[in-house]
Amino acid sequence: MKTLRTQVLIVGGGPSGLLLGQLLHRAGVETLILERQTADYVLGRIRAGVLEQTTADLLDQAGVGARMHAEGLVHDGFELLVDGQRHHVNLRELTGGKTVVVYGQTEVTRDLMAARTAAGLPTLYSASEVSLHGFDTDHPSARCVVDGEAIEVHCDYIAGCDGYHGVSRASVPQGAIRSYEKVYPFGWLGLLSDTPPVGHELIYGRHERGFSLCSMRSNTRSRYYLQVPLTEQVGDWSDDRFWDELRRRLDPAAAGALVTGPSLEKSVAPLRSFVAEPMRFGRLFLAGDAAHIVPPTGAKGLNLAASDVHYLSQALIEHYRERSQAGIEHYSARCLSRIWKAERFSWWFTSLMHNFPDEADIDAKLRRAELEYLVGSEAALRVMAENYVGLPW
Ligand code: APR
Ligand code: PHB
Repeated sequence: MKTLRTQVLIVGGGPSGLLLGQLLHRAGVETLILERQTADYVLGRIRAGVLEQTTADLLDQAGVGARMHAEGLVHDGFELLVDGQRHHVNLRELTGGKTVVVYGQTEVTRDLMAARTAAGLPTLYSASEVSLHGFDTDHPSARCVVDGEAIEVHCDYIAGCDGYHGVSRASVPQGAIRSYEKVYPFGWLGLLSDTPPVGHELIYGRHERGFSLCSMRSNTRSRYYLQVPLTEQVGDWSDDRFWDELRRRLDPAAAGALVTGPSLEKSVAPLRSFVAEPMRFGRLFLAGDAAHIVPPTGAKGLNLAASDVHYLSQALIEHYRERSQAGIEHYSARCLSRIWKAERFSWWFTSLMHNFPDEADIDAKLRRAELEYLVGSEAALRVMAENYVGLPW
């Protein structure tokens, strides 16, 4: 068995693990990443693409913000389309100058991978059979198999950045962790195409046929979503069927402006709200999707991962520089306070904009009243905007 040693072992090389690795590297802390998949596989996953200002700032702090500034699109607002009527939500005005940056998570991941490679930092890809040991002692370790070779890694801390299906959360004894979960009775069918976006801003649409979202990755690449029943198979959705259904859910101006083309990717994603508490178990920390999932309405997933990584990198840097335990002790509570607020917002926005099968008539009426109130009240829009641009750390 080969034996390796590092200060912080990071399990998972998605955006959370890579960003943590980069922030720690810049502070002189050693990391090793174990990633189950190949780099190409990680880059092939299509995820959301709206960055809060604080996330963009953290990417700058990690030294990987250059391409985001050059190619990302700064958005001052978005549109709500409610039963054929569009309402502009002016984020900049409602929040005293805050905006968001539209830049795909795939691109963030690519920039982080390039920085890690340029710095010569170690990542073991295709690491199978990862298991974690001794994180309730002062000598945690992990074992895995890479290219048929068994490897043991000794470390000071383990950062579980391995997503919802990872090994980190699953390694915690059942009695030490509690999870909260809600699964929504519909999914999102997403389509990516090399076509110009329908407008300059995102359009979140509510319609009697279901929710729709017009988003983008650039001025030449669009991302669209449709609410579909969970039973729906991607194979049943030809590109033409997708475009026809989207047009039906848009207002005439947007439907007329829609440029269609062949899909580059199409997939159905379930919607879930999930939080595991706490987020630290001795020398094991959970961060990002390993600890929480939000439904995608509002694009909080990557931004929450970034705030966890911010708190975790600070805690570890403080520990190595000053031998302080304070950040480590407070990590879980700090993260969870922000996470629950973003969970609330994502649940609220999802509940407001989707059709719920078998819903009682009164619930439908109450939601309609809330929507009418929202688009007619500057105070209500301000609350929405404040959450959309991201709550402060
Ligand atoms: N061992 C090693 N790596 C693993 C293991 C394992 N047992 N299990 C999973 N992984 C890897 C996955 O292959 C993946 O690359 O961990 C990585 C986790 O990445 P993500 O799922 O992207 O999670 P995270 O980095 O926390 O990013 C959060 O992703 O899902 C979106 O909305 C979410 O935008 C948010 C972001
Ligand atoms: C996306 O572009 O994929 C996207 C944008 C905004 C959301 C969700 C997804 O709220």
